[in-house]
Amino acid sequence: MPSTLPVADPAPSDGALPESVREGADSRNFGVYVHVPFCRVRCGYCDFNTYTGDELRGAKRSDYAAQATLEIASAGRILRDAALPERPAATVFFGGGTPTLLPSGDLTAMLGAVRDTWGLAPGAEVTTEANPDSVDAAYLRDLKSAGFTRVSFGMQSAVPRVLATLERTHDPERIPLVVAWARDAGLDVSLDLIYGTPGETLDDWKRSLDVAIAQQPDHLSAYSLIVEDGTKLARQIRRGEVEQPDDDTAADMYELADARLQEAGYSWYEVSNWARGDGHASRHNLAYWQGHDWWGVGPGSHSHVGGVRWWNVKHPAAYADRLLAGISPGAGRETLDEETRRTERVLLAVRVRDELSTAELDARGREAVAGLIADGLIDGRAALAGTIRLTLRGRLLADAVVRRLLGD
Ligand SMILES: C[S@@+](CC[C@H](N)C(=O)[O-])C[C@H]1O[C@@H](n2cnc3c(N)ncnc32)[C@H](O)[C@@H]1O
Ligand code: SF4
Repeated sequence: MPSTLPVADPAPSDGALPESVREGADSRNFGVYVHVPFCRVRCGYCDFNTYTGDELRGAKRSDYAAQATLEIASAGRILRDAALPERPAATVFFGGGTPTLLPSGDLTAMLGAVRDTWGLAPGAEVTTEANPDSVDAAYLRDLKSAGFTRVSFGMQSAVPRVLATLERTHDPERIPLVVAWARDAGLDVSLDLIYGTPGETLDDWKRSLDVAIAQQPDHLSAYSLIVEDGTKLARQIRRGEVEQPDDDTAADMYELADARLQEAGYSWYEVSNWARGDGHASRHNLAYWQGHDWWGVGPGSHSHVGGVRWWNVKHPAAYADRLLAGISPGAGRETLDEETRRTERVLLAVRVRDELSTAELDARGREAVAGLIADGLIDGRAALAGTIRLTLRGRLLADAVVRRLLGD
């Protein structure tokens, strides 16, 4: 979740939703995102809405589960008042920040609040992100007993020098340990990797991939390092202390990742995500790209229900003040018109394998298809069968494909 909030209308203080959100709700799943905005230290590249101990301005980590529970209860009332159909949560995702900085009992309590308010759908996917140095075996067993099904570890790299440039604090030797503990507990495992770190060589990246694959995770995300404005990394690059990441190297790294992951039995289902068989794709993240409904709990969290999108105040202290005063933590919201919804649908769905049908394109988009096939950016056979599937080159140039499909 990026830390900058969009500009839009203020959200109503009671959080009430318009009648329009009911339209088509039966065909949309419902999911819950719980943001946990705390980190022990901030990594130099990270722009997420997260706070270290000395940035909390009086907010307390120990109070957070109770505050999030207040928002969950009020969300239940708001959705009921909008006369939406009763939908149990198909997916729940705890992200951060570092959710696992909180005691396991706090995550259990917040998941309990989700269950009490909406129930969990049979076979619901329940994930938490975890920093590898913030969990032990007992903690992971507690999560499993509480109903978590999946844990996503921020591994980033196996190479100490690369981890040092990223200012990651965990010891890479810990990765096999935490993965084994999660497996023993009965949790599915995903690993997050970052490539294109300044100074990272192709050999370094190969090593990180090999170590990640050797853990046999069910799912793997590989993100190209984004140098976000305002981060320590951006300042280091501007001052010439750290070299600028190189786009060509990053493209080579992406190709290497795809080849090695395929050899190891993983297939891509979204530009930055690979899974062992379809059953292991992250259903929660797919729901964002597919335009389902979700409630985002916590400071700075974004929500989407039936074409209405809103986001909460960013700071944990402001979030706590609002909830304790009985006011919605919503800071701003927007109602998407038909054209914006269509544009967003193309923008998000195109990144997912076989998610966007050619029938959903407008005349300009359909006209662009032949050129995109000729340029090797989308798969011709899939397009003939009526679906947009990016080729490897298309995945590297996904933003350009979107622009052409939207006729820009
Ligand atoms: C909230 S973090 C994951 C959990 C935990 N905070 C951690 O870092 O271990 C989500 C993921 O976003 C990715 N990420 C964060 N900032 C990024 C950036 N500037 N460029 C690319 N990936 C980034 C990292 O791979 C990270 O694991
Ligand atoms: S631990 Fe994760 S959320 Fe926290 S600063 Fe690092 S990348 Fe960002």
